[in-house]
Amino acid sequence: MFRKRIAAAVFFAGLLAMGMAGCENKGDTASDPELLLGFSQIGTESAWRIGNTVDIEEQAANYGIGLMLENANQKQENQIDAIRRFIAYKVDVIAFSPIVEEGWDNVLKEAQDAGIPVVLVDRDISENEKDLTTCLIGADFYKEGVMAGEYLIRKADSLGLEQVNIVEITGTENSTPMMQRQAGFMDAIAGDERMTVLESIDGDFLKSRGAECMRYLLDTYGEDIDVVFSHNDEMTIGALPEIERAGFEPGKDIIIISIDGGQEAINVLKQGKINCVVECTPKLGKALMETALKLKAGQEVDAVIHPEEQVFSDEQDTSLIAPRGY
Ligand code: AHR
Repeated sequence: MFRKRIAAAVFFAGLLAMGMAGCENKGDTASDPELLLGFSQIGTESAWRIGNTVDIEEQAANYGIGLMLENANQKQENQIDAIRRFIAYKVDVIAFSPIVEEGWDNVLKEAQDAGIPVVLVDRDISENEKDLTTCLIGADFYKEGVMAGEYLIRKADSLGLEQVNIVEITGTENSTPMMQRQAGFMDAIAGDERMTVLESIDGDFLKSRGAECMRYLLDTYGEDIDVVFSHNDEMTIGALPEIERAGFEPGKDIIIISIDGGQEAINVLKQGKINCVVECTPKLGKALMETALKLKAGQEVDAVIHPEEQVFSDEQDTSLIAPRGY
């Protein structure tokens, strides 16, 4: 379904461009937008990612912005190729969600030489390449990690735990959310002597990898595991059946902490099989469209826009959590 939407969007963008190149100006924003935005999405690895793409499509339509949307299928080289196509196409603004932090300098210099502003969406890039971009619209991943760690300390207190053994299933290696969520979580628990991280393992933000990692962790550490800290809902949802198959009750025998806050994970939180979900909102489209319009108008933009995020957990009445929309 999502692939079809992306294909349709790229096709639409092609039509749009042909219209811009060859047809008379009819003055209507759908066929002749004031602004053409090229957006390179990472892929379809999670419900979060799909929600993010849908939100960007919807907000582009709301703001009458022409969207050239490309799906990189989880490959950095595909994102670089897409950015080059946007440059060749002379879009007004380029936006992309960098799969990893390093390796963008050449293509970003090309965008700079072409005079096209670049906006980072969701994920960041390394400091030394950052001056080639205008701004970042995305979550404060470090704070998400801190909120996860702080929840764990409260939970350990409420259960009176004296020793807490943690396994961490991380997101894509060298991606901003992976590095910053880990750093925030480790910093938050660092001063608590009860906490021991048995192992951190790369689950690549994928459900299938979440399951594989959990199988390995259960085989290796078995009943020593007190806590699973998983960097996204997708991997958490993959891990839960493995925990049950091994004879443990997630949410009771093992504390489960996840990040994203998609509907599926919230439903599982309500069932008591996840203890805490730190929100990471995919709804970045509105801020992106407003930023793109400002850039086109030559106006200043905020260097960083972080959305407000919250924690959903067994500390609250979970029946009151409103539908998430992704
Ligand atoms: O970059 C945001 C992360 O990427 C989300 O937590 C995850 O679900 C997605 O794949």
